[in-house]
Amino acid sequence: MKKTVLEVKNLFKSYDGKRNVLENISLEFKEGELVSVIGSSGAGKSTFLRCLNKMITPSSGDILFNDESLMKAGKKDIKKIRAKIGMIFQHYNIVKQLTTIENVLHGKLGQMSSLKGLLGLYTESDKKEAFELLKELGLKGHEYKKCGNLSGGQKQRVGIARALIQNPNLILCDEPIASLDPQSAKVIMDILKDITEKKGITCIANLHQVDVAMKYSDRVIGLKNGKILFNGPPSKLTKEIIHEIYGAKNGELIVDETDSLDTSNKVVA
Ligand SMILES: Nc1ncnc2c1ncn2[C@@H]1O[C@H](COP(=O)(O)OP(=O)(O)O)[C@@H](O)[C@H]1O
Ligand SMILES: [Mg+2]
Repeated sequence: MKKTVLEVKNLFKSYDGKRNVLENISLEFKEGELVSVIGSSGAGKSTFLRCLNKMITPSSGDILFNDESLMKAGKKDIKKIRAKIGMIFQHYNIVKQLTTIENVLHGKLGQMSSLKGLLGLYTESDKKEAFELLKELGLKGHEYKKCGNLSGGQKQRVGIARALIQNPNLILCDEPIASLDPQSAKVIMDILKDITEKKGITCIANLHQVDVAMKYSDRVIGLKNGKILFNGPPSKLTKEIIHEIYGAKNGELIVDETDSLDTSNKVVA
């Protein structure tokens, strides 16, 4: 039986104290699982992901990371927990003026004292690791390029290297491929899959594309209006459930412009 890395218990979130954006979410995530969260815009995917490392404070409920409660954790404990949780964003969140290697090393900041971090006092082994990760992710030769000059797919790979250098147990990905062309998106999803399988890291990814979610995930979670509508393997995610998750009117899907609702099980390309 694989270890539970993250447990979400009766999670509620309301921004205004009136409407629940997340309502009674209870979920478990195992070591090495690749789980995608799907749902239309406004379903609560980003709020959910940001609650998982307490970037957003839940209204009630609890989140246990390696059995430690985030709700009970003090500031120092949260810093320690966050050091073991990597994050990947739609717009990469890299510093464009800095080099690739510098951006990767930023992932080490959570484990360093503020002063050392401020002075950029990375160890030789940190630097070696950063080079190694960039090589693994196909970015050898780009180490000293300014990140602003890289392509979108390359920037996202820098984002992944920055997360991996934290040596995380969990990586949270908020729309990691939403800004990428299909080929770059495939590269990124292949890398995420590889990370979960070979390094045993748990990945939770918010995805717009149902076909991508189905192709790559061990498990899919469907959110609608902050509630879980589906939680199971891709093989159990039927067209009817997909319609329900995205909302259907007179048998027609209500599509928002950023949603790709291709439900065929084909490769993104
Ligand atoms: N900082 C915020 N303050 C108030 N409401 C917010 C905030 N962030 C998100 N919301 C609202 O919460 C709901 C869920 O948003 P979000 O988590 O971004 O969904 P998704 O990522 O699925 O598009 C939406 O109705 C959104 O308007
Ligand atoms: Mg979002």
